Amino acid sequence: MIKLAHAPKKGLHGKISVPGDKSISHRALMFGAIATGVTEIENFLTSDDVLHTMAIFQALGVSIEQTGTHVRVVGKGITNFTAPKTALDMGNSGTSTRLLMGLLSRQPFDMSIIGDSSLSKRPMRRVLTPLEQMGAKINLSTEGTLPGIIQANNQLNGMVYEMPVASAQVKSAILLAGMQAEGETTIIEKLPSRDHTERMLQQFGGKISTKNGMITISKQGVLKGQHVLVPSDISSAAFFIVAGLITPNSEITIEKVGINPTRDGVLKLLKRMGAEIAIAKIPTSGEPLADITVRTQALHGIHITAADIPSAVDELPIIALAATQAVGDTIITGAEELRVKETDRIATVVSELSKLGASIEARPDGMIIHGQTPLATSQDSTVLESFGDHRIAMMNAVAALITKGDVTLVGEEAMRVSYPKFLSDLAKVMQ
Ligand code: S3P
Repeated sequence: MIKLAHAPKKGLHGKISVPGDKSISHRALMFGAIATGVTEIENFLTSDDVLHTMAIFQALGVSIEQTGTHVRVVGKGITNFTAPKTALDMGNSGTSTRLLMGLLSRQPFDMSIIGDSSLSKRPMRRVLTPLEQMGAKINLSTEGTLPGIIQANNQLNGMVYEMPVASAQVKSAILLAGMQAEGETTIIEKLPSRDHTERMLQQFGGKISTKNGMITISKQGVLKGQHVLVPSDISSAAFFIVAGLITPNSEITIEKVGINPTRDGVLKLLKRMGAEIAIAKIPTSGEPLADITVRTQALHGIHITAADIPSAVDELPIIALAATQAVGDTIITGAEELRVKETDRIATVVSELSKLGASIEARPDGMIIHGQTPLATSQDSTVLESFGDHRIAMMNAVAALITKGDVTLVGEEAMRVSYPKFLSDLAKVMQ
């Protein structure tokens, strides 16, 4: 439990570098492990979720050395893993679980998969169903959750699969199985989701085609180790972007942030809310990067609909906080996926922001935020909770910046999942 800081009267100022992208760090380890030769990863995220993926590949016999944010993976090729001696522990990480269910679905040995209590409640049938259709043999609980067993299997077949949910994790699991399957695998996406798997496969020398919302992959030849520069995570940057916009007298720059168009929804939505965001693009051969500068600004409410959700799905909690400071109503619809994240983020956002006086209503598929409400504790002080969810913990810390009264946070350790040093980085822009 910690006491959260208020923003200084002179506002938030300075330049900040947030850690590497979580989605891309997971994938860099995965492709590095299944390639041949050495993969060097720069600006790697050393957070709990990604470290679980790293430990899993080490348990499968892959040599991985980490020195700070630099990681060296000596690839084994996808057919040379060794049987792990213990269960593969996914921790809190949905990305590890779902992507590895696909990637490890054609191995000559059984693997037990386990996760923490939050992960063990999250739906895995969305991955199991298509993988079983391809020939994977995976047992989960009757509820379709962890723990489970990925059984030994030597045959996967391609298929055409129409995605019932917009999910990069489901898409990636199918692609990672499809690259080991006989025949073609085609995925028809409901809405475009983050394309880091497709981009990284190509960087490692693989072949994949994307046309009119259809992604096609065949069995891949040998992938070659690469040098991967991980952009700073736009999902982490989003907390600073919103903090800069809603804290009086502020101006901050977040450096070298990944602005992949399948991930930059937070920038588009905040611009629709009236924010001027300066995006200075940095030339690069990999994932697109930019320095992002924001200053305090008046915002107005908007309607956020299903088509907006995939590229901003992890940023909706912090966008909801921004909406409490916008004039007028912000209506979020088509966001039922929020209910199956690390927590039910419709419930947890509404419960925590309401404690600070926000006028916010939960809907089955989203929320309505009536702005503009000054945030204040009900008595002299309020206790907020993370419920073990890293993004709810960080949303609470940003809310406290502009809250009148003392705010305490229970469960701040959840930030270790994606941004272990968030509070000390936040303190840097308060000096
Ligand atoms: C992720 C995809 C998204 C996102 C998660 C990371 C990924 O999940 O919420 O934090 O790395 O592919 P869904 O695919 O379930 O939308």
